[in-house]
Amino acid sequence: MSAEHTLKKRSNEEFDSWSKSYDKSVLQWLLFDPSHKMIVRELGDAGKAHILDIGCGTGKLAHRMITHHRDARVFGIDLCESMIRSAQHHVVSEPRIHLSVADSEHLPFEDATFDYLTCSNSFHHYPNQAAAVKEMHRVLKPGGRLFITDGYRDNLYGYLIYDVAVTTMEGGKVHHLSAADFRKVFADAGFQDVCQTIVRFPAPFVLTRGTAAEP
Ligand SMILES: C[S@@+](CC[C@H](N)C(=O)[O-])C[C@H]1O[C@@H](n2cnc3c(N)ncnc32)[C@H](O)[C@@H]1O
Repeated sequence: MSAEHTLKKRSNEEFDSWSKSYDKSVLQWLLFDPSHKMIVRELGDAGKAHILDIGCGTGKLAHRMITHHRDARVFGIDLCESMIRSAQHHVVSEPRIHLSVADSEHLPFEDATFDYLTCSNSFHHYPNQAAAVKEMHRVLKPGGRLFITDGYRDNLYGYLIYDVAVTTMEGGKVHHLSAADFRKVFADAGFQDVCQTIVRFPAPFVLTRGTAAEP
């Protein structure tokens, strides 16, 4: 089994056992809710946009987006089937949300399908991060926008949380990019107007956004 396959299998096992208690985790108010709120604000007036949330977990961001953008259609994918099952439980009566099991590196959508892509607190699990961002660029329409939030590890507080505590707890199978490396993978994949917002408390995270150029 390749190293990449092993990492994805271990991520799947972790979220399989976490899926039932995930929504009650303290990380919801420390990190997940604040990053979801920021992404929803960033979307501005999404109108009838088609939005894809990658690594959607239990679907809380998808649900929040559809609540604020009532004419949009939101698609969510996640590698872990149990997380998708929990998400389906949340959005059972919401026909504008479409959920499926898929890998961020092999998105089951045609080129230039989406107006917006979001990815919150999931990116550090991807073994091939540059390849995942290229795949995100592929499914975005030219001019479409990508928003990724992930732990900010460029100061001592973030370094201790993400590079020391989280990486140790996860047995070394995650990798939080520096803010500069985020800008680089965005630019290398063809994103323009790349910019970032850093939130320092209670848990530090960085939002990186960019606009898809013509392929
Ligand atoms: C910490 S959770 C974040 C979930 C959600 N985005 C949120 O903000 O609450 C990370 C999620 O990424 C998913 N994930 C990990 N590797 C993935 C991959 N290669 N493709 C798609 N999803 C993946 C996990 O299954 C998990 O649901």
